[in-house]
Amino acid sequence: MKKIIFLLVLTALVYKAGAQEKQIQIETQNSALILKAGKNGLLYQTYLGAKLNGNSGYDALSKENTKSFVINDGNPLNNLRHLAYPTYGTDNLFESAIRVTHNDGNPSLELTYVNHRVDKIDDNTTETIIKLKDQVYPVEVTLHYKAFYNENIVEQWTEIVHHEKKPIMLYNYASSMLHFDADRYWLTQFHGDWAKEARMLETELTSGTKVIDSKLGVRTNMYQTPVFFLSLNSKAEENSGEIVAGTIAWSGNFKLAFELDNKNSLRISSGINPFASEYSLEPGKVFTTPSFIYTFSNKGKGQASRNLHKWAGKYGIKDGEKPRLTLLNNWETTFFNFDEKKLTEMFADTKTLGVDMFLLDDGWFGNKYPRSGDKSGLGDWQATKTKLPNGIGFLIQEAEKTGVKFGIWIEPEMVNPKSELYEKHPDWVLKLPNRPESYYRSQLVLDLSNPKVQDFVFKTVDDIMQTNSGVAFFKWDCNRMMTNAYSAYLKNQQSHLFIEYTNGLYKVLDRIKTKYPNLPMMLCAGGGGRTDYALLKYFTEFWASDNTDPFNRVFIQWGYSQFFPAFSICNHVTSWGNQSIKFKTDVAMMGKLGFDINVKELKPNELKYCQDAVANYKRLNPVIWHGDMYRIVSPYDESRAVLMYVDNAKSKAVLFSYTLHPLYDPQYNLVRLQGLDPNKSYKVEEINLMPEAKKTLEESGESYTGDYLMNVGLRVSSSKVETSVVLEITQI
Ligand code: DGJ
Repeated sequence: MKKIIFLLVLTALVYKAGAQEKQIQIETQNSALILKAGKNGLLYQTYLGAKLNGNSGYDALSKENTKSFVINDGNPLNNLRHLAYPTYGTDNLFESAIRVTHNDGNPSLELTYVNHRVDKIDDNTTETIIKLKDQVYPVEVTLHYKAFYNENIVEQWTEIVHHEKKPIMLYNYASSMLHFDADRYWLTQFHGDWAKEARMLETELTSGTKVIDSKLGVRTNMYQTPVFFLSLNSKAEENSGEIVAGTIAWSGNFKLAFELDNKNSLRISSGINPFASEYSLEPGKVFTTPSFIYTFSNKGKGQASRNLHKWAGKYGIKDGEKPRLTLLNNWETTFFNFDEKKLTEMFADTKTLGVDMFLLDDGWFGNKYPRSGDKSGLGDWQATKTKLPNGIGFLIQEAEKTGVKFGIWIEPEMVNPKSELYEKHPDWVLKLPNRPESYYRSQLVLDLSNPKVQDFVFKTVDDIMQTNSGVAFFKWDCNRMMTNAYSAYLKNQQSHLFIEYTNGLYKVLDRIKTKYPNLPMMLCAGGGGRTDYALLKYFTEFWASDNTDPFNRVFIQWGYSQFFPAFSICNHVTSWGNQSIKFKTDVAMMGKLGFDINVKELKPNELKYCQDAVANYKRLNPVIWHGDMYRIVSPYDESRAVLMYVDNAKSKAVLFSYTLHPLYDPQYNLVRLQGLDPNKSYKVEEINLMPEAKKTLEESGESYTGDYLMNVGLRVSSSKVETSVVLEITQI
């Protein structure tokens, strides 16, 4: 022990004598994160905010009394404020980014700056890599910051490695720690449950720690979406104010902690939830945290969302720049009750509607235990012979003959105890020894930490692809959380389960993406139970909610639109809710449009409306999917929602106005449009009308300057309950 103390003192001194201050600038077009290795060797965050002109501003940050870089203020412990990656065990009094116990039982870590480099990845992207290490124990931590210049996004993650003789125990392993100094802080979280996902709730942070996390193991976003807005000094506004929008790209348990301290400084840590997940790290093995992705905007939430949407299109979501498939799904029309005849008739309906693809949902598989309800069959991925005697291949051929593509539903991480898979491999299931099995929707979770189970899940997709050429799309579902979870494979390392399950899932998805790079897939988890940017690397889109009532849906889609682009949010027109087909379709068109209705039950004028709406959607989807989104009237503020998309050239725009549940005869104000070019002239036309219906917008067909539309505006909203108006705005 004496030797260690001596070494500590010596190395600290040596380091101090030799150390130079080093400033590290991580910049995008409009934002900057500045780090500085102090003379004491510790790495601090000195600034996070709008980019400053030139370097002189950043140099001034190093002055010792700068508010955001408090050192030497009389209290030695303040040396540890704003550490870029605070450790536990020495003199840190607040949330730590990392906590380890060494081989000798010593529970402390102190990280000092070693070096850094900046790699240019391409003209838009740089990666700053900063190496830190403990001066006493052979533990190294590398901080990675990838800056996407045009999109104003920073992606941050951490690698931890050690060279002790035996494993060290990791108790905390954050992806990031960011610091803020404002007078007040408001946090917007996105929470909910099945059928009420992504509800926005803004509260002022008070002293102490607020945690947004998940302990569900899988389908982890059922109650909390892993995203937040932090607004500095005042409540978040759509078009003004300093905002940080952050999200953790991890599909297992996650944790976002917001700690407001005695000096009114805020630190935000993000990462895997270390709850019940201490990790024994082998010597030489690198522990890589997931990415924390954030953007800073001083133009409010709207700009932050647009930054994220642009980034997601280019980098965040699989095939973000490629077109999506419109579709007809059979789930709400048939549930489990279908046969070949019903399905082939629905192919014709798909064609009649004008959408691209038919999507066959749950209920097509299982022979010994057919999937005639949700109690059996999961795990047995062969078509049920009694229902589909000619198999999936025949269905694909029939769909192709009708001129539509064919997609298929799977839930490959799960198993019903009533299945051949369970009978053959009871040890592939997560379940506690000495306790009863714990069911949810009559199913159990497969143990994806086990490589054999990973092979099985990969093979589920591979077999469907290999035996049935022409499958154009997968909907990958996940309908339960983990309970009573224990992995027979992990034996005495049960605290690795939540992490290894998630890594196992990524391994499977990596294999699928490598073998089938052009296969679009929808991420679904009993509604919006999985909405994170780690899985979206493998999926082209996600199912936002099983709640398809268009009134509720406006709020759900509004919530997701804050962090995810329109092309990734799947919205289907269904029979849920008794609103008009126009209202339902107009609401679904705000994102990625699909249908899940019995087309045969549509009246002729409804069908004609749908066909026109689909044609309009196909014409306008480049604007909706890849344009800039402007949220103009929030359903949280008024009894209506108004938003618009504008293409990059500002030559085309689409506006959606949804009237919700106003009091009698609401006197809605004119709506000032946004994002147009003031010097251009635009024709405004109301589209998506029921045949023979009167237009709501009296000025439909008129032309205006962008200046007029943005400063005077139009009366775009109908006053009737649950009605909608869609405007196409075209430069003339
Ligand atoms: C839950 C999904 O959210 C639904 O869309 C549907 O696919 C069912 N599962 C099928 O079991």
